[in-house]
Amino acid sequence: MFYRGRRLRKNSSIRKMMSEVMLKPEEMMLPIFVVEGENIKSEISSMKGVYHYSVDMLDIIIQQMKDNNIISCMLFGIPSIKDSCGSEACKKDGVVQRAIKKIKEDYPECYVTADVCMCEYTDHGHCGILDENGYVINDETLYHLGNIAISYARSGVDMVAPSDMMDGHIQHIRKVLDNEGFYNVSIMGYSAKYASNFYGPFREAAHSAPAFGDRKSYQMDYSNSKEAIREIQADIQEGADIVMVKPAMSYLDIVYSASQRYDIPIAAYQVSGEYTMISNAVQAGLINKHAILESLISIKRAGAKFIITYFAIEASKMLKEYNNY
Ligand code: PBG
Repeated sequence: MFYRGRRLRKNSSIRKMMSEVMLKPEEMMLPIFVVEGENIKSEISSMKGVYHYSVDMLDIIIQQMKDNNIISCMLFGIPSIKDSCGSEACKKDGVVQRAIKKIKEDYPECYVTADVCMCEYTDHGHCGILDENGYVINDETLYHLGNIAISYARSGVDMVAPSDMMDGHIQHIRKVLDNEGFYNVSIMGYSAKYASNFYGPFREAAHSAPAFGDRKSYQMDYSNSKEAIREIQADIQEGADIVMVKPAMSYLDIVYSASQRYDIPIAAYQVSGEYTMISNAVQAGLINKHAILESLISIKRAGAKFIITYFAIEASKMLKEYNNY
């Protein structure tokens, strides 16, 4: 006798009964790009369907989130002034600080996360302070990251997500937050963050491409998987509440082994290049739009608890149809 696997795929009822992995809208976090200025909602040329918003225009995206049960977002700020140490990132009335306040005011249930990094704020586009040879100095950078995290905490952020890949950053940020009484502000480490080619469209969107060189002395080599486990382990020991793997789709093996190994929630970031590959192919009529859900569910299947994705709103709309077929 042979195995008749098709019996359990015969019609949609049995397929639904057998369905193993579900994706909830609440498990998708939406990245939002906030710019200086007023009355700005402009499509990002490298990422069709994703926009720059000025703080006064955030209502538009907040409303779409509310309508589609997207209850968390990740803020990226694009300042108008940059300098060598990214001082704008700590300004009390900086774009991210104002965006945090605005979202918490208009949508208090929204869990607001802010990316903590210096590359959008430095004139050289690197994620930290440079020495005279252009090398990012680890420990001096920690001081600045701590200040950014505190500034976001004072504005009411729920979670900070350091994406700089400096050693010891989680420990340092936890310490400074606790010292100021912000023990309820969570930390999501971009723990296994690879030096990936898939960040291209984001760097155009965030004006954060490095002016020289690359990020390989701090972000990880994509040939490595044991190194990812060491980075994740370190972030857990330093006090991260959530650890992230980034990018997601070419790194599902990392998501899987991290989720098998650790009980702490694993997040995965479906990055700009992954978004544009799928959305451009859908736009061109080359692939069916359900590839969006397929990509997200595969990330969950690998073991991610939730996904940071530019598709959050669109995928949530699709889930409504999908769950009703
Ligand atoms: C900042 C940061 C980057 C991304 C998130 N935070 C860019 C980078 O490291 O160069 C990429 C996100 C994306 O591609 O969607 N360090």
